[in-house]
Amino acid sequence: MAILLTGGAGFIGSHTAVACLNASVDVVLADNFSNSSPKVLDRIEKITGKRPALYNVDVCDKRALRDIFAERFITGVIHFAGLKAVGESVRLPLAYYRNNLDSCLSVLEVMQEFGCKEFVFSSSATVYGDQPAPLTESADTGHCSNPYGWTKFMIEQILKDAAKANPELHVVLLRYFNPIGAHESGLIGENPNGIPNNLMPYITQVAVGKLKQLTIFGDSYDTPDGTGVRDYIHVMDLAEGHLAALGYAEAHAGCEVFNLGTGKGVSVLEMVNTFSSVNGVEVPYIIGERRAGDLATVYADPAKAEQILGWHAKRTVADMCRDSWNWQKNNPNGYDG
Ligand code: UD1
Repeated sequence: MAILLTGGAGFIGSHTAVACLNASVDVVLADNFSNSSPKVLDRIEKITGKRPALYNVDVCDKRALRDIFAERFITGVIHFAGLKAVGESVRLPLAYYRNNLDSCLSVLEVMQEFGCKEFVFSSSATVYGDQPAPLTESADTGHCSNPYGWTKFMIEQILKDAAKANPELHVVLLRYFNPIGAHESGLIGENPNGIPNNLMPYITQVAVGKLKQLTIFGDSYDTPDGTGVRDYIHVMDLAEGHLAALGYAEAHAGCEVFNLGTGKGVSVLEMVNTFSSVNGVEVPYIIGERRAGDLATVYADPAKAEQILGWHAKRTVADMCRDSWNWQKNNPNGYDG
């Protein structure tokens, strides 16, 4: 009996694999390595002492998926696989809609063929768009500002409809806030292709000397120090949130949605200063223009996950900074050394 992690070699997938294996939940990984490396498997084994099966497949390919379900007894799926770069999604909308919707539909159809009922989906706080924080799960959705966000919104709708039509389905939608950090061993972490779009990988690449300086995208927002405020969550807390969601999915039919965030807003400047002081490294920065589509303040109300899943984020912003740096400095070129 195993849980299939699509996109299981990626940033959040690999950390969730570790959390599952450490909790004696067996996992099988499927990944096409479009933004990940098969070398992550050695690291997962080093951390957990277990080496899960890893299939090199594109989960849009139903035939390849069927082979996995035929070979393994898959009791549930956590669907991480998907394209996730906001800017790229504006340039390549069709690729985003094709890949993200197709992969989800393929997985759901093959699950149905094999009588597999539990499905946990990686959604995003991006579905809330520009609304006042803290955001509860009952806030309006469908105010996305880019095709990537719309794929999350559309997949949420597909899953709600699928669960309504099939009372046997057990679906959990997880709306992530801003995942950063790395496993405390420093053996696995985030390894973006090219120049990072997101704040923490940009900071770590400046700190390690790969990039010259950080540009802070605007300091005139209506926030305490003028820079953007987000709800950063340690990726191991997020990973443990998936375990809690799996437990919930086992016991509950239907479709339920949970925010996975800390409930605390942190500004860009606070993050840069915490990173520097915790790690004793300089992060040179300049203040630049606002980035198109950015919001002033986004953070979760995490109460529902606490009440129903019994889960809350435990790690601090200092932990996130320490672990992100530990991963980056030990692996300046990601899994390639
Ligand atoms: C973005 C996506 C979100 C996605 C998340 C992944 C949108 C609108 N945003 O969130 O869907 O899930 O990435 O973690 O769809 N910043 C800088 N300089 C930089 C990079 C970022 O100042 O070089 C600032 C941003 O202006 C923002 C904060 O840092 O205030 C966080 O940015 P980022 O890490 O890119 O995440 P989001 O934009 O919040």
